[in-house]
Amino acid sequence: MESDRNTDGAGLSPPFVVLAVGAGIAAYKAVEVCRQLVDAGVHVAPVLTERTLRFVGKTTFDALGSEPAQMSLWDEASPIPHTRLGQAADVVVVAPATADLLARYAAGMADDLVTTTLVATAAPVVVCPAMHTEMWEHPAVQANLALLRSRGVVVVDPEDGRLAGGDVGSGRLADPSVIVSTVLSVLAESTRGTPLAGRRVVVTAGGTREPIDPVRYLSNRSSGKQGHALAEAARSRGAAVTLITTVPASAPSGVEVVPVATAAEMEEAVLSAAPSADCVIMAAAVADFRPRVAADQKLHKSDGLPELVLEPTNDILAELGRRRLAEQVLVGFAAETEEMEARALAKMRAKGVQVMVANDVSAEGVGFNHDTNAVTIYGADGTVKLVKMTSKAVVSGHILDKVQELLPDR
Ligand code: CTP
Repeated sequence: MESDRNTDGAGLSPPFVVLAVGAGIAAYKAVEVCRQLVDAGVHVAPVLTERTLRFVGKTTFDALGSEPAQMSLWDEASPIPHTRLGQAADVVVVAPATADLLARYAAGMADDLVTTTLVATAAPVVVCPAMHTEMWEHPAVQANLALLRSRGVVVVDPEDGRLAGGDVGSGRLADPSVIVSTVLSVLAESTRGTPLAGRRVVVTAGGTREPIDPVRYLSNRSSGKQGHALAEAARSRGAAVTLITTVPASAPSGVEVVPVATAAEMEEAVLSAAPSADCVIMAAAVADFRPRVAADQKLHKSDGLPELVLEPTNDILAELGRRRLAEQVLVGFAAETEEMEARALAKMRAKGVQVMVANDVSAEGVGFNHDTNAVTIYGADGTVKLVKMTSKAVVSGHILDKVQELLPDR
């Protein structure tokens, strides 16, 4: 196919990203996404809808994009702009993606340049929803997103914060830097091929729940997001992935999901999957202790204050370290609030793992229940890699790069 991209001095085409800007107040942030992508060496083709112009000017995107912004299906210079853009794209990113745009994309409608490009492309698509909290939480919007996710569309979830009109809630467009780093990592994935093809990767995710009685449990703040992002990234690099998770509802598609609740269930599932795995990544927050007895019946206030006697759980990662097969790569996580490096290195040695991913969970935007993370990746071979605040998808890419470096050549 003929492409009209610019080439650099070495004759290589820069990656081609279609930036589709929906008609929402957050369209002003898409200007920053455009600028940062161009700065990162990407050829950006902006596409706007008629209604987008109520929020932001076309001239801005003409000036900052790599080519003039397009809006019409009926371009005289190129009779088929919808297929040209869809075919040329390495990635299509929709920012902001309004509730209306998500619905039309999920339904396969194609009545303007944005939706025709989305339906005409075989490239990976990243959608970045932004809308009022009421709309974001509407079952129709969530069902459309679930459908798009099941088709492999990457969703950059909105953040909590101030919305148009002064309201506060979830639905604010993700930070432009998070959108840009996600697009860059999706680009890297799509051009990298499938380096983990033929490999088996086991990932654990979420916080375990240790029952006190049939309605109560001890748990922690883990959301499972980092583990799920790792499973998704390993799958897109071609690995056969088993995801052992306490939050199966939000598991990515295309992986084998083993739902578990307690540390003991997770231990059984991990130890049975590990012998055939090239790599096991323990991203789960496993309880270190559990109630010695879980009451059969609900405990009632009228029975007085219960005495909770705790007992330790088994350390799954340490057990994996003892049973490790030659050339198997074990990855642990160390969520710390102080003395991060010393503690992470001590855990790496004590548990016999090859890679330890440490994060300071007391820092803003890091670790539990965030879409972003900032980590340091320690290798038992002495390597140290600092990954500054970015999306959990990008963090996953860095962790898998290290795993690939350690896996023996085939
Ligand atoms: N881990 C595990 N089994 C446990 C506890 C932890 O497999 N019972 C794993 C975690 O999944 C993580 C790593 O060990 O990959 C480190 O977990 P962390 O809670 O940071 O360390 P602990 O050894 O539990 O030490 P502490 O909680 O005292 O910091």
